[in-house]
Amino acid sequence: MMINVTAPVPSPAKKDKKLHIMTWGCQMNVYDSAKMADLLSPLGFGLSDDAEGADLVILNTCHIREKASEKIFSELGRLHKQQKEANAAGPKMIGVAGCVAQAEGEQILARAPYVDMVFGPQTYHRLPEMVAKAMRAKGGQIGGGVIDTDFPAESKFDHLPAQTAGQGPSAFLSVQEGCDKFCTFCVVPYTRGAEYSRPVNAILAEAQRLIDSGAKEISLLGQNVNAYHGIADDGSTWGLGQLIAAVATLNVERIRYTTSHPRDMDDALIAAHRDIPQLMPFMHLPVQSGSNIMLEAMNRKHTRDDYMRIIEKTRAASPDIAFSSDFIVGFPNESDKDFESTLQLIRDVNFAQAYSFKYSERPGTPAANMAGQIPEDVKTARLAALQELLFAQQRSFNEGFIGQTIPVLFDRHGKLDGQLLGRTPHMQSLYVQNGKDMFGQTAHVKIEKVTTNSLEGVIV
Ligand code: SAH
Ligand code: SF4
Ligand code: F3S
Repeated sequence: MMINVTAPVPSPAKKDKKLHIMTWGCQMNVYDSAKMADLLSPLGFGLSDDAEGADLVILNTCHIREKASEKIFSELGRLHKQQKEANAAGPKMIGVAGCVAQAEGEQILARAPYVDMVFGPQTYHRLPEMVAKAMRAKGGQIGGGVIDTDFPAESKFDHLPAQTAGQGPSAFLSVQEGCDKFCTFCVVPYTRGAEYSRPVNAILAEAQRLIDSGAKEISLLGQNVNAYHGIADDGSTWGLGQLIAAVATLNVERIRYTTSHPRDMDDALIAAHRDIPQLMPFMHLPVQSGSNIMLEAMNRKHTRDDYMRIIEKTRAASPDIAFSSDFIVGFPNESDKDFESTLQLIRDVNFAQAYSFKYSERPGTPAANMAGQIPEDVKTARLAALQELLFAQQRSFNEGFIGQTIPVLFDRHGKLDGQLLGRTPHMQSLYVQNGKDMFGQTAHVKIEKVTTNSLEGVIV
């Protein structure tokens, strides 16, 4: 996934330098990219949605699967080629941020020595210093990039600017970062570092600023967002359910959260789905596999039954809730029987949507060294079978809305005048043709057509 971040609200400061950020990976990276733009704004960098002629291009990268990492080097090669061309279309400086930077910092500079800065997810608050250093090096024609991939003792969140450019009607707010769970397939604990929860007050203040700059919906983010345990002013520790209740007292229409882990699901969060009207009826709860043998080997520390109990409890508290999940096929030693257990879990839950991946060997993770790696053609066949089932469920979930009228928050412009895109309460993507002047508003939409991936309707 590549998302180009642009600033929806113009800032009055003089912007004589052009900044372009390319973002891959999860929502936390999208949030970080917006913060990088905020940090560089006082230095005169204005966001641009194309790379041509940029003073600085930042690649905010993802290391989660092999394909995601490899894309970075081809993108770097492309940018460098532009740099060398005579028409000066290439960027003056290139920075590599995010999880590939964290995991492969030295290798990036060895393989792409023209890169000016390499910095990780926990150090980008030092970006203004890094940019100044890199600019000085450039001026003196000194080779070799600036590298900063520490895990500093202080939290970056204490150093991010309070003033932000705004994120539009639907805004992301990181409340928790990092992971201590060490699933055997996953790089996140190594690239993002240890689990950390931001204090309650800082989150509520940022939520208020987002609302003041036009946010109607706030998505609370974390690698394990429901492991949130932030300190409140009175010294007590709050969980995610409590935090959501506090955010709901602000003038916000919609609240979401992602990604939660089955191990951290508690009754307070489930009750929030029953009690807090702004909390959307949608839960993304990755399970990865339906086989207890695989779950154990993955170090997920929960069973298939634990997962099913959460689903049942949540449905009892909030009957119209929709579930989403992540699946990995072809984890080492996955047998046909294990795979069949995953298909059966999908049939038992009935998902509204899901993400599914072939297992990808990641350097430094325990699963990469396990015997019993699954051949590529088996992974491909299993993924196809899994997706056939998931897409059928998604389509039939969507078809259930034909003829219904539902509230939609419009947060993206379509190509044509009047075309708007938005999200339903259940996180479906929806578009209308008669959306003139409705950007940033919630409107009631009568659903006329559906596909697997989206709904179409008219504002009534
Ligand atoms: N913290 C979240 C997920 C973060 S990563 C959780 O624990 O659920 C997002 C998804 O990427 C994971 O849920 C998993 O399905 C997938 N993923 C992570 N590592 C992977 C790997 N090595 N190969 C394939 N998919 C992977
Ligand atoms: Fe990765 Fe597991 Fe942590 Fe999720 S819980 S980020 S899958 S190690
Ligand atoms: Fe990717 Fe890092 Fe997010 S590896 S999924 S960008 S935490």
